[in-house]
Amino acid sequence: MELLITNLSEIATPLGREPRRGSAQGEILRQADMEVLCRDGQIAFVGTVEERQATLGELPDTPRLDANRGTQVPGFVDPHTHLPWAGSREEEFSMRLQGKTYMEIAAAGGGILSTVRSTREASADELIHGVDRRLRLMLRHGTTTAEAKSGYGLNLVDEIKQLEAIRACSERQPVELVPTLLAAHETPPEYRDDRQAYVDLVANEIIPAVGEAGLARFCDVFCEEGVFSAAESRQVLEAGREHGMAPRLHADEFVDSGGAELAAELGALSADHLIAVSDAGIEAMAAAGVTAVLLPGTSFFLMKHTYAPARRLIEAGVPVAIATDCNPGSSNTESMPMIFVLAVFELGLTIEEALTAATLNAACCLGLGGRIGSIEVGKDADLVVLDAPNLLHLAYHYGINPVSTVIKGGEVVH
Ligand code: NIG
Ligand code: FE
Repeated sequence: MELLITNLSEIATPLGREPRRGSAQGEILRQADMEVLCRDGQIAFVGTVEERQATLGELPDTPRLDANRGTQVPGFVDPHTHLPWAGSREEEFSMRLQGKTYMEIAAAGGGILSTVRSTREASADELIHGVDRRLRLMLRHGTTTAEAKSGYGLNLVDEIKQLEAIRACSERQPVELVPTLLAAHETPPEYRDDRQAYVDLVANEIIPAVGEAGLARFCDVFCEEGVFSAAESRQVLEAGREHGMAPRLHADEFVDSGGAELAAELGALSADHLIAVSDAGIEAMAAAGVTAVLLPGTSFFLMKHTYAPARRLIEAGVPVAIATDCNPGSSNTESMPMIFVLAVFELGLTIEEALTAATLNAACCLGLGGRIGSIEVGKDADLVVLDAPNLLHLAYHYGINPVSTVIKGGEVVH
């Protein structure tokens, strides 16, 4: 199984297998007139035509993909999505346009709980159908690996139904999925008056069962004022770890809730959102090497006009990744190119920093930096060809889908 990608005007990629932080986040390789050879699912060669001819010869029998002077980047890695859900929330969106806030709608029983109702009612097939549809869109927009969370079941049966939908979909289409249990996304209505009892249910029943079934690699929690406190989050994440699921967190999205500090204390791979993160939280994350997964689509879609302090995070030495947060309430998009544009325009990342954030740093915070996230010999051949003469067009030419070809494991999948 070989494929030679020719006629590229440029390749652009971060390098390495570890998260890139500080000034290294913006140091990427950009090189003109390159070719890439995929062999047995991996990248076997990256170099100029002359280098290829000198080392590998003419390769007359190798199938070619003519990139038509496009730019090649690593396949995008989306490290934070809520893919399995049923129903939709455009009415709520419309209420927000009339001035209601996300938290007001949630307090009135809408928000996450409205998606919980429809997800509980949905059959396994309906859920799988929705995930498949979203994955097709993700693939067309260049995502080759995505994390996917449960969190709209909020009981054992329905959290497992969501995780099984993720598993079913990972087996039937090209986007590689990394499953996360987010049973502590919200307190379900039946526990409204006894949140601690729900936390205990998550820690003592849902987590052990999911661990036993091997359905999730990570355990996540929504650590936020009015949702789960740092102490409750700690209880959940420690139970997750005991049952083989590494911790990651929704942290400090609306108010500073000590989520960043908790992520550092637990050695989490990521703390996500961080719009309201404190200086102490940033320092703790830098010291512990926790990646900040920033979700500018959520600030945009909730019309908050405040974004996570990306520059301060980078300057403090925190590796920054970006993700869609794809979900029906706070960020209804599958498109990493859209998130890339917001990262540049609203988070203030440079284009080079944003590329690292959407590829290598995202891969590393899913524990996959050794295998994906950059265009280097020996890594999986997960690649995107952009219909663009160089990397800068990824933000410069906005509002279009720049992706022309997607390759997963050395095979053209779109
Ligand atoms: O990441 N912040 C909490 N959870 C999701 C929103 C989910 C929803 O509104 O359905 C988020 O933004
Ligand atoms: Fe989220």
